Parts: sequence; C-alpha cells; structure tokens
Amino acid sequence: MTSTLYFPPSLQRFEPRRMVFSTWVDHLPFAYDLVTAIRPQVVVELGVYNGLSFFTFCQAMVENDIDGVAYAIDCWEGDEHTDAYDDSIFKDVQHHAREHYRGFTYLLRMYFNEALRHFEQDSIDLLHIDGLHTYEAVKEDFENWYPKVTPGGIVLFHDVMARIKDFGAWKFFAELEQEHEEIFRFNHGFGLGVLRKPGGNPPHTELTELLFSRDPETHKRLRQLYSHAAHFLEARRQAKRFKPKDHAEADKGGQGKQAGEG
Ligand SMILES: C[S@@+](CC[C@H](N)C(=O)[O-])C[C@H]1O[C@@H](n2cnc3c(N)ncnc32)[C@H](O)[C@@H]1O
Repeated sequence: MTSTLYFPPSLQRFEPRRMVFSTWVDHLPFAYDLVTAIRPQVVVELGVYNGLSFFTFCQAMVENDIDGVAYAIDCWEGDEHTDAYDDSIFKDVQHHAREHYRGFTYLLRMYFNEALRHFEQDSIDLLHIDGLHTYEAVKEDFENWYPKVTPGGIVLFHDVMARIKDFGAWKFFAELEQEHEEIFRFNHGFGLGVLRKPGGNPPHTELTELLFSRDPETHKRLRQLYSHAAHFLEARRQAKRFKPKDHAEADKGGQGKQAGEG
C-alpha cells in the first residue's frame, strides 16, 4: 500500500440510506466497498436484526448495478446478547426491503439451521456471520455455512474484537487466523473479520489485493483508512443534521426582519 493510492468508492459517493442504531455502523464504508469490489451474485447474512449491515450490502448492489440476490436470515426474536425484541423490528426491516430493494432481497424468518437446506454447496459469494456471538455459536454457524460458500468467496465475522460477557467470536476468529492464508481483521468498531475461501476464480480487485496482501504495513494502513472512513461518515452525518436547522434559523431571521421592515 505504500506506493498505492486507494480511493474507495465509499469516500467518493456513499450516503447510507438506512441508519439505525447498531455497532455495525463503523464498518459501513468497508461493507459498501467490498460489495462494490467483488460484485457478489449471492449474498447471505446470518443475523440481521434491524438491517444496518444487510441494507448496506443491498445499497451497494443497487448503486453499482450488481445483478445478484441477497438473503437476510434471522428468527427476528433476538438472542441472549441482543435480548428478545418485538415484532416491530421485523416489520420495519420488511418495509425498508419492500420500499428500496424489492425484487432481489429475501427475508427468511427462521433459524439458521432451518435455512441451510435452501442453499447449495459452493453457492454463496458473500456470507456474513452475525448471529449469537458465543464461541460455540460462531463456530457452529461457520462450520454449517462455510461449505455453502463458493471457492474464492468471502466470509465476514462481526465482533471479532469484542471481549465482553461470554462473547467468543474473537477466540474462534483467532483460531481461523492460524489456519487460513487469506484472512484479515479490522480492529475498530468491535472488530470485523474477513476471510477468503481458497480456490475458485476470485476477482482481482484493488481492495482484495490490499486485504490479502499479507504485508503488515499495508494492513496497518488499511485499518487506519477504514477507521478514519467510519469517523468521516459519522462527522458528515452530524454536519448534515445541523445544517437544516442553521438554514431554518437564518430563514427565520430573514423573515423576521422583513416583517419588521414591513
Ligand atoms: C447481533 S444481531 C445482528 C446485527 C445486524 N447484523 C446489524 O447490522 O446490526 C444478531 C441477530 O441474530 C439473530 N439470531 C441469533 N441466533 C440465531 C439463530 N440461530 N437463528 C436465527 N436468528 C438468530 C437474533 O435474532 C438477532 O436479531
């Protein structure tokens, strides 16, 4: 990366259409860039909740003319870490999917294990594992679903830096790091792990070259880039939030003066 200038699409044009509370917020620019780069035909997310990560994948597909399908799998009941939640979350996700991503998104309201039978071996280009975060649950999700990932496909793991309560994604991902060559970890925002399944014919893209370069300096700079990108996105959002109010104040001031003059 030392001599490469990587100017990601997220910095050029990404305005999140979906913004809801989730610790996933720090990885939105990367998610947008990854989808833009690898152009997945089949995306599967295990653990959707209010859809922040899922709809970022979808947005990148639409805005980059990616002709694929995206499956969101969740019981939409909650788990030991999110706690139980009511049906309004699912209804909101359903509404957003219909409103913006009709035709290529499928919400599979079921347990991950029930959904397995709907997917062929080697068929998923991008798999995101974000269900229950205990060591055992993440391991089970990975072992069940990895065979469904196409050779050269990508698997994402959320919360690989979260060492709270009985979270164990960090431990499972550390084991994968020992066994896999093409693997990378973002440390900010509770961590996001990225693994490329060996084999196949994966696209050679600037981003994947950087991710799987195995060069510590490149990796350090990539981590810095996406940590800054997350801050930049948030700062821009904050700035936008205040702008309309400033204009409103200015308008009020202007009108008041006119009234006084009249
Ligand atoms: C951490 S949340 C997902 C966060 C989401 N990706 C985001 O962008 O904020 C985990 C979700 O996984 C679901 N979940 C956990 N274990 C599950 C299982 N075995 N089958 C179906 N859903 C599950 C829960 O209902 C919860 O909504």
